[in-house]
Amino acid sequence: MVRAFSGIQPSGTPHLGNYLGAFRRWADQQQADDLYCVVDLHAITVPYDTQTLRAQTVDLAAWLLAAGLDPDVCTLFVQSHVREHTELAWILNCVATTGELSRMVQFKEKSKGQESVSVGLFDYPVLQAADILLYHADEVPIGDDQRQHLELSRDIAQRFNHRFGETFTVPRPTFPPVGARIMDLQLVDNKMSKSETSPQGTIDLADDADATTRKIMRAVTDSGSEVRAAPDKPGVTNLLDLLAAASGASVDELERRYEGQGYGTFKRDVADAVNDALRPVRARHAELIADPAALIGLLYKGADRAREMASATMDTVRERVGLLR
Ligand code: TYM
Repeated sequence: MVRAFSGIQPSGTPHLGNYLGAFRRWADQQQADDLYCVVDLHAITVPYDTQTLRAQTVDLAAWLLAAGLDPDVCTLFVQSHVREHTELAWILNCVATTGELSRMVQFKEKSKGQESVSVGLFDYPVLQAADILLYHADEVPIGDDQRQHLELSRDIAQRFNHRFGETFTVPRPTFPPVGARIMDLQLVDNKMSKSETSPQGTIDLADDADATTRKIMRAVTDSGSEVRAAPDKPGVTNLLDLLAAASGASVDELERRYEGQGYGTFKRDVADAVNDALRPVRARHAELIADPAALIGLLYKGADRAREMASATMDTVRERVGLLR
């Protein structure tokens, strides 16, 4: 059986990029062995508010369940509830090098212009490697922006195995056929992100249908009026990707469908398709979030299951690296 593991940070509210690039696929492909994790320890690597973090952790779990993750099938849990993640991260810190961490593009982007940057932010990809390697995951379903982090996880696994003996499965990243990189609707050269910097360019899952439609109708398109995917038409290309990912049609098919039509009808159809795809998820989220105690109960159960696997891995790791038992 192939085991999948993936994670998502409870920072900000989840957006359409997270959904189409990552967790819709987690739900569609889930199998009994899979694990999905709300990575709260990753979220504290940048300034944050403690009460908000707690609420966002529960809220994000509600979104994952609303998207279709089934706790009777896979394991859904919160990273900090399984202490083995941080223990393994420390050991992997002694395998990873400062040189390779310095090359991480996300670190460079997130630390740019910051007055003080936490060591945690620098070390972030090592904790991510620990998340994955603890469970011997074969596959890691992610969006395009996590590609480099996964390369590092693979390098760390291989180096550890070489130095201490075959211990970890070397994980393979997987990407969705469309929607791996959803761009901001206003700043079309930036990926859609959880940061608050571009509220009009980001479709939050928590937005209502009207706000979603408004943002898509006002999305930056390019000069000309052709609905065609091309490097010099990043705005239209992104909307085509969105429509393809939301409706299941291919980009080629869509280009033919909208030939000779202007941007107006096209954008209206994108908005409708996105709202249709999100409607059941939004409705289910509203039901689930009404009972946070039940959600937390589910997360504790998930953590119990995850901990069993994680502690078995750590027994082996401690032995391999020569710690006194
Ligand atoms: P995070 O929380 O930023 O994003 C969660 C998932 O959403 C994908 N994603 C996107 N996909 C398409 N278009 C976008 N605009 C877009 N924005 C985000 C991300 O690629 C990701 O799959 N470091 C990870 C969290 C993490 C993790 C892990 C992932 C921690 N440990 C172990 C996999 C395995 C992150 O910050 O994701």
